[in-house]
Amino acid sequence: MKVTVIGSGYVGLVTGACLAQTGNHVVCLDVDAAKVAQLQAGHVPIHEPGLEAMVRANAAAGRLRFTLDAADAIGHGRILFIGVGTPPGEDGSADLQHVLAAARTIAQYLIGPAVVVNKSTVPVGTADRVKAVIEAGLAERQIDYPVAVVSNPEFLKEGAAVDDFLRPDRIVLGSEDESALQLMRTLYAPFNRNRERIQVMDARSAELTKYAANAMLATRISFMNELAALAEQVGADIEQVRRGMGSDERIGTHFLYAGAGYGGSCFPKDVRALLHTGREHGLQLGVLEAVQAANARQKRVLVQKLERRLGPLAGRTIALWGLAFKPNTDDLREAPSLVVIEELLERGASVVAYDPVAATAARAQLHDKAGITIVDDAYAALDGADALVIITEWREFRTPDFEQIRSRLRQPLIIDGRNLYEADEMAAQGLVYEGVGRPSTRS
Ligand code: UDX
Repeated sequence: MKVTVIGSGYVGLVTGACLAQTGNHVVCLDVDAAKVAQLQAGHVPIHEPGLEAMVRANAAAGRLRFTLDAADAIGHGRILFIGVGTPPGEDGSADLQHVLAAARTIAQYLIGPAVVVNKSTVPVGTADRVKAVIEAGLAERQIDYPVAVVSNPEFLKEGAAVDDFLRPDRIVLGSEDESALQLMRTLYAPFNRNRERIQVMDARSAELTKYAANAMLATRISFMNELAALAEQVGADIEQVRRGMGSDERIGTHFLYAGAGYGGSCFPKDVRALLHTGREHGLQLGVLEAVQAANARQKRVLVQKLERRLGPLAGRTIALWGLAFKPNTDDLREAPSLVVIEELLERGASVVAYDPVAATAARAQLHDKAGITIVDDAYAALDGADALVIITEWREFRTPDFEQIRSRLRQPLIIDGRNLYEADEMAAQGLVYEGVGRPSTRS
């Protein structure tokens, strides 16, 4: 099939590459000349396992190309995906300017009937707005090709996006247009083997499903983070509690990890946007408000732990391991590390940080801040530091050289925001260790 993908960011790029991989002819349109040039040269500007190889292979096979030329791209596809960003506006609402601009571009250059598929995360009712914008644009051109708009939210996790696209839990299609749905079923057939994954619903329900799923996952995390604080007070271990809870099938084992708070491009933004939609409709979503507040508190927990152990932090040097909001990405958006850094610098501490992948992104983002150094070796970060704080659970942090940690730190203190180690093992290594919601070493 001939497919056009508007927006070569995270979502658009993964969608375009994976659809080309299954034999479709895909043209990706973007307005960013530098990005398009990079992609044409086979370079993927984001860190996502498997994506660059897939882009190169499909480009070489002639099934995937990138362009700045809207007439060329819109003229190509029978199915046109919108996968542009929906950044948060000041009031927390999702900013739809890029989505609506994409709709206008479609209307301007369309040369026949089309199915427009919205993959961007958008507020309920956007499919109708997109359809109205396209129809108005076509009317100006005095043509009336039939255009259906399908809401098809993405559920991609950074670091596993290619795999999530190729092996989805579900494929949500929001539309009441039978022929559009038929086309979408054919397009998604390769990803729908063994068991029916396609769920057809109305567009508004599809749009809300995306927000609801992310809000539910954020809720689980904030709930566990609150319970972790309670576990510390009552002398329980949140990791044991998590295992006990998770083995109830109704609860399940996923997304129950207490930690440094959730970050990333989706949860914080989507929670804010859903709260905003609630307010627009006169509804206070109280559970979700509490989820958001608990997460803001959680991002400060590690610094409070440091203060309890070390006293005032002015003049101290703190080593950080992990800056990305989670492993396998270089993404720093809403990362707990940024709050930890801010709080430490505010208190007059210096920070020496290490991240195996996000160092370059972090240097670019934090270059104007005095008091932070980013180093390229995990152990070099420890030299002369008063404590090590672990913020991201990169695999290489799971079994570090504890002897080096102990000897290179000025004080043998680890504050672990990801509960990677066991307190009694740390005590045996001569380290003072405190996780989140767990018993600490005694000293
Ligand atoms: C998320 C959703 O999982 C995905 O379906 C959606 O399409 C986009 O948003 P992503 O933002 O890539 O994906 O990250 P995810 O792996 O879900 O983690 C989000 C945050 O929650 C991270 O900061 C992570 O550290 C934190 N987290 C996750 C916890 O603190 N505890 C957990 O148990 C799980």
